[in-house]
Amino acid sequence: MSKPDVSKLNRGNIVEFIGGIFDRRGDEEYLGEPVTMAEHMLQGATIAEQNGQPEEIIVGALLHDIGHFTSEFGMFSMDDTEDRYHEEAGAEVLEQFFPSVITDCVRYHVAAKRYLCATKPEYFNRLSEASIHSLNLQGGPMNAEEVVEFEKNPNLKQIIAVRYLDEAGKREDMETPDYWHFAPMVQRMVDKHMRAGDSAK
Ligand SMILES: [Fe+2]
Repeated sequence: MSKPDVSKLNRGNIVEFIGGIFDRRGDEEYLGEPVTMAEHMLQGATIAEQNGQPEEIIVGALLHDIGHFTSEFGMFSMDDTEDRYHEEAGAEVLEQFFPSVITDCVRYHVAAKRYLCATKPEYFNRLSEASIHSLNLQGGPMNAEEVVEFEKNPNLKQIIAVRYLDEAGKREDMETPDYWHFAPMVQRMVDKHMRAGDSAK
């Protein structure tokens, strides 16, 4: 599949465009984890679906690390395989097409780790070694003030749910459907956003 022109992205082709990223670049390694980038995101989405979670959570988990591929969206010309605030970059590319609940799950998935480390002592045990390493680079657990601020987010529940899926999606031996299984769901989220003009924020 060739790389489409980002300036022509719209509600009719964004879902396929993201699928192209999964197909062409999904095999890239997820640093320090036993899964590829695509496996990681597909595992989170699959676990959410198996647990009967709402579509916004499934799609949030599916797209949460899309910011690792921002060069696909023409945002950076430099090497984008490093963790350069991928959560913010990911939210920015999705914002135009997806409801704020989805972009918040993407934007705050790193903050959610810092939040959960501060508020749920048992959560720390779920973290992989690579995730503990990046936690330190990301500022460590939140302080009390940051916790209060973070809890003001109206999408807190969904953000936390996606964060748990982020931890869960690092299994060596899990079978998942591919991106195209979830594509109709992704399209429904896009359509919902475009219809509502995201007024339900
Ligand atoms: Fe992740």
